[in-house]
Amino acid sequence: MSEHIPMFSEQEFICPKSASSIAPAYKLRALRASDHALGFLDVLSDLTTVGEIDMKTFTERVNYMSERPLEYFVLVIENVESGKIVGTGTLLVERKFIHACGLVGHIEDIAIAKTEQGKHLGITIINALDFIGKKVGCYKNILDCSPKNEPFYIKCGYSNSGYEMTKRFH
Ligand code: ACO
Repeated sequence: MSEHIPMFSEQEFICPKSASSIAPAYKLRALRASDHALGFLDVLSDLTTVGEIDMKTFTERVNYMSERPLEYFVLVIENVESGKIVGTGTLLVERKFIHACGLVGHIEDIAIAKTEQGKHLGITIINALDFIGKKVGCYKNILDCSPKNEPFYIKCGYSNSGYEMTKRFH
């Protein structure tokens, strides 16, 4: 599979309203394997530890996700002037038994490059992931975040509905 192929159908799943509301210097699109060279992992490293991931390993992971096109949606924002990835967010669609075999969208790994924060790119990513969640038929989207990010998610239309519980294995 070409490293330049989007991991999901942009025509179907990129929210037209979000794509057109973003400033002209930016493009909202699906992740591609070639984004490895455009700083995708650097953006994620503003969120947490990423580790060393070579192009082969990265491409294998993108391909795995692309083969499950209604389960994995990784969005990126590219700064078209610098050619760099400056933002990302993921929607993982969980297939449940409850709620009549309902679908729940899990919002994960939201990150905007430090130099680009405060420009409404984060809220654009969340709105675009909400669009995908609705489009694939999720009855809700959910996420975990630290208390410092609660005001951001409230601005995105989310509300606090409990505690995050964790058990670490590594
Ligand atoms: N506290 C209060 N308000 C905030 C905060 C905050 N921490 N962050 C953003 N806002 C407000 C903005 O002021 C803006 O308000 P306005 O509409 O009145 O102007 C609104 O929320 C939208 O903000 P954006 O400009 O879209 O936010 P940004 O692009 O900076 O993205 C984000 C926010 C994603 C939290 C970014 O700061 C970031 O990447 N932080 C580091 C990584 C991180 O913590 N990611 C979230 C992990 S949680 C998860 O992945 C589910």
